[in-house]
Amino acid sequence: MKAKKNKKASARKSASKPAPAAKPAAAPKAEPVKAEPVKAEAPKAEPVKTEPVKAEAPKAELVKAEPVKAEAPKAEPVKAEPVKAEAPKAEPVKTEPVKAEAPKAEPVKAEPAKAEAPKVEPVKAEPAKEAAPKAEAAKTEAQPALKAAPKKEALKAAPQPEKLKAAPKKEALKAAPQPEKLKAAPKKEALKAAPKKEALKEASAAATAETDEAAFERRLARHYDELKWLYCELYHGDTQAFDYCVSMLRRAWADRKPALRAQDAAREANPNWYRRQDLLGMMMYTNAFAGTLKGVEEKLPYIQECGVNYLHLMPLLQSPKGRSDGGYAVADFRTVEPELGTMDDLEHLADACRAKGMSLCLDFVMNHTSEDHEWARKARAGEPGYRERYFFYDNWDIPNEFEKTVPQVFPTTAPGSFTWLDDCKQVVMTNFYPYQWDLNYANPVVFNDMTENLLYLTNRGIDVIRLDAVPYIWKQLGTSCRNLPQVHTLVRMMRMVCEIVCPSVLLLGEVVMEPAKVVPYFGTPEKPECHMLYNVTTMATTWNSLATADVSLLRHQMDTVCALPRDFLFLNYLRCHDDIGWGLDYPWLGARFGTNEVAHKKYLNDWFTGKWPGSNSRGELYNDDPRLGDARLCGTTASLCGVEAAEFEQDPFKMERAISCDLMLHAWMLVQSGIPVLYSGDEIGQLNDYSYHEDPEKWDDSRYIHRGKFQWDLAALRHDPTTRQGKQFEGLRRLETIRAEEKAFDAQADVWTFDTGSSHVLGVGRWYQGHKLIAFFNFSPEFLHVSSWEKGPYDELMYGGHREDLNDVELYPYGFAWFLHTEEV
Ligand code: GLC
Repeated sequence: MKAKKNKKASARKSASKPAPAAKPAAAPKAEPVKAEPVKAEAPKAEPVKTEPVKAEAPKAELVKAEPVKAEAPKAEPVKAEPVKAEAPKAEPVKTEPVKAEAPKAEPVKAEPAKAEAPKVEPVKAEPAKEAAPKAEAAKTEAQPALKAAPKKEALKAAPQPEKLKAAPKKEALKAAPQPEKLKAAPKKEALKAAPKKEALKEASAAATAETDEAAFERRLARHYDELKWLYCELYHGDTQAFDYCVSMLRRAWADRKPALRAQDAAREANPNWYRRQDLLGMMMYTNAFAGTLKGVEEKLPYIQECGVNYLHLMPLLQSPKGRSDGGYAVADFRTVEPELGTMDDLEHLADACRAKGMSLCLDFVMNHTSEDHEWARKARAGEPGYRERYFFYDNWDIPNEFEKTVPQVFPTTAPGSFTWLDDCKQVVMTNFYPYQWDLNYANPVVFNDMTENLLYLTNRGIDVIRLDAVPYIWKQLGTSCRNLPQVHTLVRMMRMVCEIVCPSVLLLGEVVMEPAKVVPYFGTPEKPECHMLYNVTTMATTWNSLATADVSLLRHQMDTVCALPRDFLFLNYLRCHDDIGWGLDYPWLGARFGTNEVAHKKYLNDWFTGKWPGSNSRGELYNDDPRLGDARLCGTTASLCGVEAAEFEQDPFKMERAISCDLMLHAWMLVQSGIPVLYSGDEIGQLNDYSYHEDPEKWDDSRYIHRGKFQWDLAALRHDPTTRQGKQFEGLRRLETIRAEEKAFDAQADVWTFDTGSSHVLGVGRWYQGHKLIAFFNFSPEFLHVSSWEKGPYDELMYGGHREDLNDVELYPYGFAWFLHTEEV
């Protein structure tokens, strides 16, 4: 996670291939920590009574039905606020002066400079006109800026004779969408309300009533004006570049195979297909999980056994060894890293996933390319037209100006935002690692070619695209170069592009920023941007609650999320392949507890690296910047929850508690609305992998500690309830199954938090069609008694048991309970 910082970069990347700092190979740490919980600045847990712990899986008696207490708990439930419509506005982008490197803009042809984007002057080039000569559309056009030298990719993309045959008929393309057809198009509102079966029927009806070609034209017509408006505004009226873009979209659509077009039609007719309570995600590195893409395909039954129907494969495109940033430095967007397989393997895997009803997600690393990418190599060599795709400077004057306002992403592992290229005596912008060169999206050629790369992947069958590091894609001197308005224009354009060419594809934005910066990436209901975003603040706040044993901030955060429109879909997760950054609501913490940000981050890091007395957590710091004291944190969920320490110490008592903690956190993740995503290995409680300390290509990047090889030998124990793997796997499966089936987990449910009577215990309610779930999560290592005034009776879903009310519920250390009340009909 890139924490937002505002400081001057003092160090600079001096070479394009930094020698990794030699580090002593640290031995696995898990030292026995004798001391028990100690006071943090935030309310801390009391020492726990040393209860002998049984080795069995969590028991039904965990939540004891205690006699009702006389005093009813006072807390008023916080009702989920009806959706507030303050959805962020997609502000029309002000036309920025073009950077010197950007291709010269065509004189703007009568583009009305209106203040509101949507009110577009009907653009003269009508869809019908764009659609007209089919043969032309099929021809590969050189981008305007590159007319002299047609690009290799463009040539690669040239439709083959077979494709030409399959390409839409001239007449069909010519025909502008008929009003009847437009009318016949399914209404979003109507579909929202329509039950699944109806939607499916409609889908097949729509599919038969409308040819693929007509559907494409309808979609193009729907978005054409807005797309042209935004494009010309961003690119200073460069209609040539825009026309190229439209012809490229046509080519991409012509290349889309029937199975994917059928999926497009079905999902267009049921646009809420992904707002299902049974969706469960898993993210993994291909090589860590199964070696190759073929291996992943062979292991799909295991993934299905985990209940997963959304699979995110971490970057797998060609990336130079030792300069790959975990695959996030892409050298070729159309070639799979040979060690992992081929593009055909990827397409085959995507087909297999589709056949199983599983969505496949891939990263689209759009902010930068590897220095080994063809464009970068040509730019380095000074080939005309290529330096303009990046940010090249003859000297440090402008870079120095940038560095005054641009925060650093990797202050320790790759300080500064620019790199000196000694061979060509140039400075190039590299916000991430020196070998990751930032692309210049002020150049329409970059937008066109990158969009074509994206569509190439979606045409292979990828149906969720993770827009990697998306807040960074527009740069402007004197700003932080994060979240600039033009970023939203670009994302909106990409959303429209997908809706035109491949409407079954979802965009997932990687926006690891403070909450106010995240939500605008949803766009507005009329002009949506991303379909889904990571719930990064809730993730970080969850870990904060664990270290402080205090849920106040988590409740506050949950209330904020609950107040957002329900259409905003978050991906909930406990951890991912990146570090955990401490992006908490410090103003709120400061006002409430007098928390000091730097001191608090230090406390959290001490806690999660096991330095704090009483902590059984085993994490490692990431990008520790001594000047700011704001290191981030790495480690697997199980190791952070204390499983590693318990195993090292062979302490069954600690182990029981650690497993409870791990399961409680998952239960909390699953109770939130949105799509829960597991990190591969967490389902069996995989521990930190310290072997990266021995690998010179990895040892300066502690994120590898939680990217270890999947341990199939341990996974084999997953059905044995006497093992910790069995307890974790089976416990999690039970929770996931309940979530997938019980009505209270419906995506449209009301969700609220409530006062449980204890600052250590989070209370969450969900209600949908007479099904009410009241859940408690104990973030402390104490036995606690909590309550909810909500009327019963209740059945506990995880452990069993029946109670007439929820007065005086006893929770085990790090315990939780999911109580369900069903209203009589
Ligand atoms: C994203 C990825 C991260 C990578 C960065 C640069 O933040 O999640 O792993 O280092 O982008 O591409």
